[in-house]
Amino acid sequence: MHFFRYRGNELFCEDVSLVHLARRYGTPLYVYSQRTLEQNFRRLDEAMAPLRHLPCYAVKANSNLAVLRVMADLGGGFDVVSGGELQRVLAAGGKAERCIFAGVAKTEKEIAQALRAGIYCFNVESVPELERIDRVAADLGTVAPVAVRVNPDVAARTHAKITTGTYQNKFGIAFEQVEGVYARAARRRHLWLRGLQMHIGSQLVRVDPFEQAVRKVAPLAHRLKDRYGIEFFSIGGGLGIVYEQALASGDPAWWQSPQGRRMLTPEVYARRLVPLLEPLGLRILLEPGRFLTGNAGVLVTRVEYIKQTGSKTFVIVDAAMTELIRPAFYDAYHEIVPLRRRKTPAVVCDVVGGVCESGDYFCKDRALPRVRQGDLLAILSAGAYGSVMASNYNTRPLAAEVLVSGSRAALVRKRQPVEAIWGLEQLAPWQQ
Ligand code: LLP
Repeated sequence: MHFFRYRGNELFCEDVSLVHLARRYGTPLYVYSQRTLEQNFRRLDEAMAPLRHLPCYAVKANSNLAVLRVMADLGGGFDVVSGGELQRVLAAGGKAERCIFAGVAKTEKEIAQALRAGIYCFNVESVPELERIDRVAADLGTVAPVAVRVNPDVAARTHAKITTGTYQNKFGIAFEQVEGVYARAARRRHLWLRGLQMHIGSQLVRVDPFEQAVRKVAPLAHRLKDRYGIEFFSIGGGLGIVYEQALASGDPAWWQSPQGRRMLTPEVYARRLVPLLEPLGLRILLEPGRFLTGNAGVLVTRVEYIKQTGSKTFVIVDAAMTELIRPAFYDAYHEIVPLRRRKTPAVVCDVVGGVCESGDYFCKDRALPRVRQGDLLAILSAGAYGSVMASNYNTRPLAAEVLVSGSRAALVRKRQPVEAIWGLEQLAPWQQ
């Protein structure tokens, strides 16, 4: 579900025209819908209501302070993967005691920072990390809450670059080793065995891998609860969203359509998983990222040139892989629609950015309504893993971000001034 719709022939975010926003704030521009964020959160929250649970928003998906504030106001917790993300959450008004801290490379400094802030738990990815956390906690004269991330060795059946729960991946501790690790960790004075965590991958569009992983790991969670009194089990994130026909997916009737759509709803997810989790009597944590923000954001871009080369038509736009790297990096599909619909014939084209890389494209050989120089387009489903993966490659400033709520729109990140890109650089003394 989302709130990007045509009104007449013009695309709106909630009650605000995207053409109006593009004129006011320029392009490329990310636009986020607050109502979509809220609705997605509530929908997942309600589906999981039979369980004592906490959705911990995966900050990496979209870490804009205003987005984080929406999640905090909804009562969500946060899944952070760096000291920087933790600081962002706190800056946005989130609470440390609702934060879990994941990631395979936590530094001593980050561990100390998180302990001082009073986070809910570390999700620990290796034995040396457990030892380090114990040591840092001892130095600070405190006890660190920890959960081991179990790698259940279950294939998520998603893109290889976002599969995390098999033994080919760097994440977590192998299922067979986990009980031994808890036994050893229990002897350390500065560790508090508070939970168990897993995350098998991202953009899962089928519920079976989730079910398989929960069936495999739930008995382990049960034993750890009996033996060490753990209080929570985090089942990670990974709920996939609709990328193809993303615009149509904003229509509730479309979501209810029973068959033939590659989609995984929170209701289906909950129907399969709640019965397996309920008997544990543990607090269940969720770590949704993409599900909450993905379809809540679009990237608005302007057509700079139309170029014919041989038999191909290239639509060259002012956004590029620097604003949305997903097509280049994962061959990801993002729907592209004009902000102003006209009755024009379809043209097969590549929509590309201006970065000097052949991989810098948004789509290839796709039939799109014919566009002209100066037209505005929306690249859909850009709310997750869009702005957070942006770069300054080719000295392109980071784009602006706008949050819409009803008929209100606010700039929630200014466009980066170009001088800021080299603001931390300086000449060597012998060059001056
Ligand atoms: N929890 C953990 C431990 C994770 O590693 C991730 C994502 C999540 C939760 C949230 O997953 P989600 O609900 O968003 O699927 N850049 C890639 C996605 C990378 C996902 C990394 N981990 C993309 O654009 O598809």
